Amino acid sequence: MSKYVIEGGNKLTGEVMVHGAKNSVLPILAATLLTDTSTIHNCPSLSDVDAAFNILSNLGCRIVREDDSVTVETEALSSCTIPEHLMREMRSSIVFLGAVVARCGKAKISMPGGCELGPRPIDLHLSALEKLGVTIEEEHGYLNCTVEDKLRGATISLPFPSVGATENIMLAACTAEGETVIHNPAREPEIVDLANFLQRAGARIHIGENGTIYIQGVQKLHPTEHTVIPDRIAAATYLCCAAITGGEVLLKKVIPQHLTSVFPILEEAGCRIRHTGGGIYLQGPERPRPLRTVRTMPYPGFPTDAQSPMMALSCIASGTSVFVENIFESRYKHAYELTRMGARIHLEGRVAVVEGVSRLHGTRVVCTDLRGGAALCCAALAAQGRSEITKINHIERGYQDFDKNLRSLGAIMEKVRE
Ligand code: EPZ
Repeated sequence: MSKYVIEGGNKLTGEVMVHGAKNSVLPILAATLLTDTSTIHNCPSLSDVDAAFNILSNLGCRIVREDDSVTVETEALSSCTIPEHLMREMRSSIVFLGAVVARCGKAKISMPGGCELGPRPIDLHLSALEKLGVTIEEEHGYLNCTVEDKLRGATISLPFPSVGATENIMLAACTAEGETVIHNPAREPEIVDLANFLQRAGARIHIGENGTIYIQGVQKLHPTEHTVIPDRIAAATYLCCAAITGGEVLLKKVIPQHLTSVFPILEEAGCRIRHTGGGIYLQGPERPRPLRTVRTMPYPGFPTDAQSPMMALSCIASGTSVFVENIFESRYKHAYELTRMGARIHLEGRVAVVEGVSRLHGTRVVCTDLRGGAALCCAALAAQGRSEITKINHIERGYQDFDKNLRSLGAIMEKVRE
């Protein structure tokens, strides 16, 4: 196990290149099962991506990686089972279900683990797949999925715009017979990126004005290439790290439009933000101002994945900030670790009230989840003295070269073995 050691107090200044989006490349890697061969560019080096490679290899696919390009060949596919140890490696492994069923006409997967953000149910995934003609039986913690004849298009209304459920439906519907319509789908940029990949591979997908997704099933998808969009959550995290240190950074290879709900909150905190060609420039305040109310919402609302880094920023604000976490049941575990650094946070169900303090102090803290771990690093960058952030395997799931990038901006930070 490794840990980060951070000496707080330095302003971050300089430029950072943002890596490809984890939450885009994962469903796209699942989608490669629908074609014989696909090449994906701007693929980030993350442990969750390695976990997806392990699932594909276990199914019999051949994976060739060259720098940030990866080619997936599926002709030798030999299995439709994803064993428990692979399903548990990554929370979002459930997104492989739709693709495996579409490719093989059946699938056997273990129930994905519950996790740091709450139970992570998959009821919306399963009920949607059943509407498309999948029979699902649970047996000893495994889901046995079979398709009588063929997957058939259906009209599906999601009670909640679940990202994963939307992705699973898209993957299963591309080669189903007839039309599938998804009402109230997720509208995250990662959904659009997946649709773009599938369209490039020959799928007939149309996203209507109101977000409704229309899919006309086709026989088979063909080989394709695709470049993954930049990671908007990694971008938001680096912006919070610069802001909390009163520094100034230029993020490159980002899509500003993907962060339109994050900018106003950073500006409320006193940041100056400018969009340059393909980049975002941020100048942090001497001391952040408090955030009236940060409500996490489905896209295009404020992203739940940026809640914890933004909370870290608010810990040293000149007043009290309020957060309302509307997406996940239990996404404040990082608050307990932030209070060990001197933060004053009161939790009441989905509401967190953060009373800003003038300084945090460095100490030893434990990562509870991916974004919560990044938030602890953000806080440590501004804390007085030395912090040790342990269980950084959580962070390495979703941030490529996190310590290297922060060091390049002037952070006194190193990764050492526990
Ligand atoms: C995706 O998770 C992302 N993960 C999450 O990012 C992100 O926080 C989330 O979408 C919301 O934007 C990936 O894309 C790999 P959901 P997902 O289905 O698909 C409930 C990160 O840090 N729900 O939109 O699991 C669920 O419990 C990760 O990068 C059901 O009740 O999110 C949650 O409360 C964390 N039943 C809410 O919906 C279901 O069948 C949102 O879940 C499915 C979901």
